[in-house]
Amino acid sequence: MMQIKESDLKVLFSEKQIQNRIKELAKEMNAFYNGEEVYAVCVLKGAVMFATDLVKHLNMPLRMEFIRLSSYGSGTVSSGKVNAVDIKLPDLNNKNVLIIEDIVDKGLTAKFLMDFMECNFKTKSTKFCSLLDKKCTRIVDIEPDYYGFDVDDKFLIGYGLDFDGYFRNLTYIGYADKNLLEQ
Ligand code: IMP
Ligand code: MG
Repeated sequence: MMQIKESDLKVLFSEKQIQNRIKELAKEMNAFYNGEEVYAVCVLKGAVMFATDLVKHLNMPLRMEFIRLSSYGSGTVSSGKVNAVDIKLPDLNNKNVLIIEDIVDKGLTAKFLMDFMECNFKTKSTKFCSLLDKKCTRIVDIEPDYYGFDVDDKFLIGYGLDFDGYFRNLTYIGYADKNLLEQ
């Protein structure tokens, strides 16, 4: 695969834009939790960059958990089902849980996780935070409690988001022309 090069990407959100927005989100969260302890649950692999940057700006006692889900096969077309690769979590009863995702697209992953929390724990609160929100492609009725940016139906790459496993390490979020992705 891997037919696209970094030079094919157009920047959608620069490192500066992302980091500024993260600080704003953290400010909202710090106000909401008001010093109460939080369990941050990072959804691997996509949310790794966002989660690690976001938690640096959170000021309450905080513990981090990492779970791994996958819904994309290879390439840019969603398989339409959520695959729980590793979802071992500690006892989250009576805890404030903040789920951290990279992007809500169809909404299947977000719905799966919110249902999973509800079925398994009586949390004190469960909030869903996603860096990106692709509202236009939603097929289930779910909205993140916090999101960084509203995005169009483009396949986005960088800052945790991958194309065939590549480009997660970019500091910015970009996109490539559709014809390049479909080659
Ligand atoms: P959903 O279940 O359709 O909402 O998909 C959510 C997951 O699909 C995200 O956590 C991403 O890992 C992946 N995904 C959706 N859109 C994109 C994209 O534009 N670029 C990279 N990954 C994406
Ligand atoms: Mg993801």
